[in-house]
Amino acid sequence: MSAKTISCRAAVLWKEGTPLTLENITVDPPQTGEVRIRMVAAGLCASDGHFIWGLDTDIQLELEGNPIVFGHEGAGIVESIGPEVTSVEVGDHVILMWLPQCNRCEWCSHPNTNLCLSSSFESTLYHGNNKQTRMKINGKPLLSFTGTSTFSEYSVVKETQIAKITSKADLKSVCIIGCAVGTGYASAVNLAKVHSGSKCAVWGLGAIGLSAVLGCKQAGAKQIIGVDINDNKESIAREFGCTHFVNPSTLGKSIEEYFKEIGGLDYAFDCIGNQQVLDSAYNSLNLWGSLVVIGLGARGNKVVASVAELLNGRKVMGAYYGNQKPRKNIENLVDKYISGDLPIDGLITHRIRLDDISEGFDKLKSGKTIRTIIEF
Ligand SMILES: NC(=O)c1ccc[n+]([C@@H]2O[C@H](COP(=O)([O-])OP(=O)(O)OC[C@H]3O[C@@H](n4cnc5c(N)ncnc54)[C@H](O)[C@@H]3O)[C@@H](O)[C@H]2O)c1
Ligand SMILES: [Zn+2]
Ligand SMILES: [Zn+2]
Repeated sequence: MSAKTISCRAAVLWKEGTPLTLENITVDPPQTGEVRIRMVAAGLCASDGHFIWGLDTDIQLELEGNPIVFGHEGAGIVESIGPEVTSVEVGDHVILMWLPQCNRCEWCSHPNTNLCLSSSFESTLYHGNNKQTRMKINGKPLLSFTGTSTFSEYSVVKETQIAKITSKADLKSVCIIGCAVGTGYASAVNLAKVHSGSKCAVWGLGAIGLSAVLGCKQAGAKQIIGVDINDNKESIAREFGCTHFVNPSTLGKSIEEYFKEIGGLDYAFDCIGNQQVLDSAYNSLNLWGSLVVIGLGARGNKVVASVAELLNGRKVMGAYYGNQKPRKNIENLVDKYISGDLPIDGLITHRIRLDDISEGFDKLKSGKTIRTIIEF
């Protein structure tokens, strides 16, 4: 039986810096190489927030006046597949990936990057060629945020943007592996390759930072210092593996001084994206330490490293999606979760319905939540 257009509800951004609105939309059947997903759960990430709150970041949406279905973290069940789809069948459980992995291009086979030649931000706004979209509102095209649009009851995604996972996992729990956990954990384990006995610090204890903390802990770090201006983050930080918690605003000395006194850091993770934090984190390293930049920052943020520092062995790494090859890594992380070796349930502090999404983002902004999950 061929698939038909579906009418459903979705959260739409009409213009950067304005709240999402709930809309009735249509979702066309998947075309060649595409899959239509019935979303089961989606998470609210600060990266969505940056666009909703209108922060001027280095990534621009270029909506050209078109509305866009938002959300990039989520999990669901394959409802229908288009021609030539080979990796999934109707009924399979999947996590959506905001970076494609076609497994055919030169970049996908390069061991040092998780970028795919089809991963330009612009190309993920559309389906197929000629700027088509499968989602529409009153017949008008709706763009797709990162090619995933998880804040919709149904979404059409390219086959290259889904990771098939075991049906044993509760999608309402593992959906956060699609961004927060995948990014933070892989940044520590796959990219920085944190070593046993090391000294690490993580700036920003949201879901991304706490996942990096968990990665540092499982990699055997000896000291893990959580750094956050919100004291309420201390208890969850310790639960995820922090051995210390520091609030720079009440420390009584500079954070660089504090870290100098303990010999400097082997690894510093920026999970915020602010210039002052980048400077502090870089200047808190020991001579050969590594800075891992995860936070999506204001436009023009920079890390300045002198040649003398680099000659000593200092490294600066950018962790886009944790530099993981997402299809396999997400599947592996789900298996690790199922076997009890990836204790991430504590990251989900709130569960809401799609109608309450704007309140969910308000709470994220005010620091009252870690991950809020929409249950469809
Ligand atoms: N690189 C990637 O692939 C990637 C993927 C996902 C998210 N991100 C980015 O990671 C960052 C974190 O996302 P999240 O969802 O965990 O955010 P979040 O808002 O839940 O957490 C941010 C934390 O940083 C703390 N904070 C803010 N300013 C601070 C300061 N000056 N000093 C110390 N602590 C401070 C806040 O109190 C909060 O606990 C965002 O910038 C997001 O856009 C990047
Ligand atoms: Zn995210
Ligand atoms: Zn590719």
